[in-house]
Amino acid sequence: MIDLRRVRELFDARLPGYSLPQEFYTDPEIFEFDLEAVHARSWIFVGLEAEIPSAGSYLATTIGRSPIIVVRDRDGTLRGFYNTCRHRGAQICETGHGCKPVLVCPYHQWSYRLDGSLQGTPRMHESFDPAGIHLLPIHVETVAGTVYVCLADEPPPFEKFRNEVEPLLAPSRLIDAKLVYEKTVVERANWKLAMENASECYHCAVGHPSLTASAYPLATRRDLDRWNMACDEFTSRMTAAGVPSGQVDGDWFTAFRFPLKEGCVSLTMDGKPSVRKLFTENIGWMRWSLHSSAYAHALCDYTATFSAIPIGVQETAITWKIYVHKDAQEGVDYTLDSLTSLWDKTNFEDRDLAEMNQRGVNGKGYLPGPYSQEAESYALNFVDWYCAQVGAHLDSQTKKAGSTSRSVMA
Ligand code: FES
Ligand SMILES: [Fe+2]
Repeated sequence: MIDLRRVRELFDARLPGYSLPQEFYTDPEIFEFDLEAVHARSWIFVGLEAEIPSAGSYLATTIGRSPIIVVRDRDGTLRGFYNTCRHRGAQICETGHGCKPVLVCPYHQWSYRLDGSLQGTPRMHESFDPAGIHLLPIHVETVAGTVYVCLADEPPPFEKFRNEVEPLLAPSRLIDAKLVYEKTVVERANWKLAMENASECYHCAVGHPSLTASAYPLATRRDLDRWNMACDEFTSRMTAAGVPSGQVDGDWFTAFRFPLKEGCVSLTMDGKPSVRKLFTENIGWMRWSLHSSAYAHALCDYTATFSAIPIGVQETAITWKIYVHKDAQEGVDYTLDSLTSLWDKTNFEDRDLAEMNQRGVNGKGYLPGPYSQEAESYALNFVDWYCAQVGAHLDSQTKKAGSTSRSVMA
């Protein structure tokens, strides 16, 4: 049972504009609170529709402690379920991808249709009543070939995200993608440190020398001036070509299309495309991100996605996936080495940075420190959003506890 009064006290000690009090990165009780207040309630990016192409294709993953599955039904609809059997609770489909006409639990072979309804329950007694037994559904939404799920009974509104991100994302043609690379590493850092790190490029000039070969480093005031000029020029070029490129923001998302460094056409070690078969001509770098857990980058030749899903208070599963055009052939149009080297390098550098951050935060010497309002504005935005979720959940739980105790007294 989470002590909400204690969470409230810690929360009230937070200084706006500063990193969080230590317990928010180190305390098992806060971790449990986060799973309920944040991960059970926010929209989570799980992949691209291309990973679930035909009837029976599925993608199985885990959000917090909940295994989930997104499956394509016979009529083409994507459906989401808890990947937990209604017999005695075993995980039904192994984590990863697969394709099955019926979902069969490997424990005692109860089976489920692709719409989640119960199909078979071998050797159950005659009086067993299957009514009301089906896979428990979760919410699924798609936008321009990308897939999101939410575990909440009442998810945050999705329409603004769809309406604003779809036009920006559509020119990247992710509907034509195929997944060619996926890696998961367990980072020894709290999920918020992983996301704070992913949300700022204050560390990029020194921390990611390879990334800044084709991305503007934004380390100095001069870099910033150059970047602003490049953005203006890029926006007019994209507008003339009919490609949306402005920035859109919501409570829990940001998306925008922006320029690569001068002379570069993709985000690669040398700025040249790493895949010969392109999705589109060079229309810059489309980046979209979702609090609580995802960053994604679409370039003319590939798309890379990043997600940070909590496993434990100081353990986060970092998964990155790389997609190319469905007609691109390995060995002909690209090699896995050249396609993956930049993001492997960058994500391992980020893993090391987040773990280094966690080690320092664990020490007695840690006190919340100030974010740069300019260079770490997205990290600050993420932390502010997190605090808003914490505050809202504390309020709703306190209200619920109050009405329960009133009804017990009555
Ligand atoms: S737990 Fe799934 S069939 Fe028994
Ligand atoms: Fe980084």
